[in-house]
Amino acid sequence: MQSRFPLPKFREIKTPFYYYDMELLDRTLESLSREAGKYGFVVHYAVKANANPVILEKIRNYGLGIDCVSGYEIRRAIDCGFKPSGIVFAGVGKSDWEIELGLDNDIACFNVESIPELEIINQIAASKGKTARVALRVNPNVNARTHHYITTGLKENKFGINQWDLEKVVTSLETLTNIKLEGIHFHIGSQITDMQSFRNLCNRVSEIMDWFTQRRYNLRIINVGGGLGIDYQYPDANPVPDFESYFKVFRDGIKLGEGQELHFELGRAVVGQCGSLVTRVLYVKEGVKTRFAIVDAGMTDLIRPALYQAYHKIENISSSAAEEKYDVVGPICESSDSFGKAVSLPETSRGDVLVIRSAGAYGEVMASQYNLRPLPHCVFSDRV
Ligand code: LLP
Repeated sequence: MQSRFPLPKFREIKTPFYYYDMELLDRTLESLSREAGKYGFVVHYAVKANANPVILEKIRNYGLGIDCVSGYEIRRAIDCGFKPSGIVFAGVGKSDWEIELGLDNDIACFNVESIPELEIINQIAASKGKTARVALRVNPNVNARTHHYITTGLKENKFGINQWDLEKVVTSLETLTNIKLEGIHFHIGSQITDMQSFRNLCNRVSEIMDWFTQRRYNLRIINVGGGLGIDYQYPDANPVPDFESYFKVFRDGIKLGEGQELHFELGRAVVGQCGSLVTRVLYVKEGVKTRFAIVDAGMTDLIRPALYQAYHKIENISSSAAEEKYDVVGPICESSDSFGKAVSLPETSRGDVLVIRSAGAYGEVMASQYNLRPLPHCVFSDRV
């Protein structure tokens, strides 16, 4: 496989760093916009996946809205030029200042997860003489068949309002005069590659839409969340997710009424493949049975393998010798600080440059300063 990476340049750059393939991001965004555009679907990019301002600028240029889960993300979105009319604000624990920030900026919608939250939003909106537009996050109880840490639509999750509580919630809305019900919101989990989970979601969404129609509620927005997965085998797989099949599932599965819009909140599928973590081999160490490639990136730079046992493809772009097996580990003082076990790599030695693939989503944003390490820096393919 021919490397797309500018190795001579990489050798001059201090590792570790995130490298973003901006051409691939463009291709992904073009495909996303084209396929969503076919049916008039509205996509909000889930900024939690990657909040890098350079990435956000590109996403903004494709006209996507933005899905935020904190006041800090709202500020970042506004600083990066997203219009408040394209901002939705989700999350189970919105602080008062975050609600105020949303109201002061007149964001499009609050995705609300409980009656106490509705009451506080109503109270803060009333104190400002404003009306908050909200969508109710309904728990569809659909199993996303993904890692249990990232499945969110089951009834025992902390997220969303259970269907049997909806009657209570809509009754409470009658007295909350500074709230306007705009729609309903769902999200079943992340890294979903089985379209059947989305078909199941469509069935539940349709039932819940009927429930509201029977009660003569006019819902303008049906927001089905995000969750479309990526193929972590890239570069041995197509890096652009199959947006065509994904959107078609929703076009076929949900019948919209007059004036109703279908909204999505995609994160990983937009940015996952364009990012790689680039690192250097510090030492090759022979263990009892294992050969370790100790690299200068750690779980502080990319925590997904340590936290979720997530798979990321690793390549040695400096060597083309015969392959051997290595455990690729970082310098952090935790046994879980590993990027992969028994990874086949061409014979590896000190100074080799390794790339850890598919790290554009939930990579840079989840970096920490544990061991007082600095946060990783970034290099963009169109700026090297
Ligand atoms: N909407 C809501 C309400 C969400 O909770 C999420 C992700 C998204 C949209 C975007 O989901 P996506 O399209 O990216 O799958 N850190 C984990 C993933 C956590 C996802 C949290 N919620 C990981 O590294 O796999």
